[in-house]
Amino acid sequence: MNEIKQRGQWGSTFGFLMASIGSAIGLGNLWGFPYKMGSTGGFAFLVVYLILVVTVGIALMMGEFALGRKTGTGVGAYAKLGEKYKVLGWMAAFCPFLILSFYAVLAGMTLRYCVGFLVQIFGMDGFAGQGSGFFGFLLYDTKSMVLFLALAMLITMAIVMGGVQGGIEKFSKVAMPALGVILIGIIIFVAFQPGAIEGYKFMFKPDFSQFSDFNSFFNVLKVASGQMFFSLSLAMGINITFGSYLSKEKSIQRNAVIVPFSDTLFALFAGMMIMPACAAFGVDYGAGPGLLFASMQNVFIDGMGGMAGNVVGFLFYFLVFIAAITSSIALLEVLTSGIVDKRIAKGKDPSRKKISLIFAVCIFVVGLPAAMDALGSGGAAIPAPYELLGLTPDSPGFAMWNDCWLDLYDMITEGVLMPLGALFMSLLLGWKFPNLVKEECEESGNAFKGAGYFKFAFRFLIPLVMILVLYTQIQAFFL
Ligand code: TRP
Repeated sequence: MNEIKQRGQWGSTFGFLMASIGSAIGLGNLWGFPYKMGSTGGFAFLVVYLILVVTVGIALMMGEFALGRKTGTGVGAYAKLGEKYKVLGWMAAFCPFLILSFYAVLAGMTLRYCVGFLVQIFGMDGFAGQGSGFFGFLLYDTKSMVLFLALAMLITMAIVMGGVQGGIEKFSKVAMPALGVILIGIIIFVAFQPGAIEGYKFMFKPDFSQFSDFNSFFNVLKVASGQMFFSLSLAMGINITFGSYLSKEKSIQRNAVIVPFSDTLFALFAGMMIMPACAAFGVDYGAGPGLLFASMQNVFIDGMGGMAGNVVGFLFYFLVFIAAITSSIALLEVLTSGIVDKRIAKGKDPSRKKISLIFAVCIFVVGLPAAMDALGSGGAAIPAPYELLGLTPDSPGFAMWNDCWLDLYDMITEGVLMPLGALFMSLLLGWKFPNLVKEECEESGNAFKGAGYFKFAFRFLIPLVMILVLYTQIQAFFL
């Protein structure tokens, strides 16, 4: 059997696109994008984000697809380029670990809301008598937070162990479009709420006040760039793996545009649902990581109300949970298969189940602080990083990296490791292997468009942006 047959390949471009878009779309779009936009001034964030996706995101995704298809492996691709680049693979692989430990906390919360609305459909109280104020209650309900984190991790692990991904993938082919439809439905509903218009203004009305001084501009740049890495699943080896399964006739460039485009569309939908909802129901745009939950609870309970609110709320959280689980599975799978492949190469027993269990337990433990610090609201079961540092939310040193454990993990991954990974990758592709991407994209007679631009991007633009991002990160850290 030849190598291609053994590893498998995408049956069609459609299958490839669904898998990559499915992995890209998740809580990053629905939860991360709106809250990051909300805490960095709306319009300013949106503009910087869109510019970053077009100038940096597409090039990096293309580079990863090309690297994967060229080398025929996932994170191992770096080692194939040269033994000394191995560390880049390790760096890329650490990200899924830390991301999953807070991703599962959030997935658990969506499950909690989903169950809450389901119970309400049957006439019982699903939100502990708190209604639209449930979020503030849930944060301090440490037992529930831990229980639902454990459930999310268990479900993820069971799927990775049992290898029922096939079924989940088929299911998510229906669930993802359904999520799109329900998002549009909620967008329309929210649009008719009094005061909603302010939310659109927040997003779309030109306001350059964030750009008037360097610090706030750098802050927007840093947050938007991190969000882009997270949302497009860049710098984690995932797209390298996807690329390795792409057949030589398929156009890398086309796919590297379609995936970021679809992902950004979903993020925009989420923003257009949540920002107007905040405006209409008086939720602070800058509420932080809880924004999705806090704002949507108002929409379903106060806005729609009654049975309609319960049914739509249930459907919404159910679909968000599915989107989250498909991403969690991918995250745990990268870790598990990374070790399993190594063991097989050494002639050892793969022990797939044992390895995914070990990872799941470690991730659960690392996720505990993120589940127990009430997202930094203060005085919770576990102190938030800023509390450990003896700061208060009004102290000068209080920042997005220390306001809660979740944001700290987020900063380490999308704020530091991913820009660092992207910096090295683009330097490699720009200077060391300058023809790799071009040649790989030109396979089977495909034309390589924008050669001049991509050369410039890999050599100068991406490294420069990454250095700026890392610089602002260091600056915030030693403030
Ligand atoms: N991009 C996903 C989201 O927006 C999250 C994510 C990050 C992810 N890295 C990943 C998903 C790796 C699958 C695989 O939610």
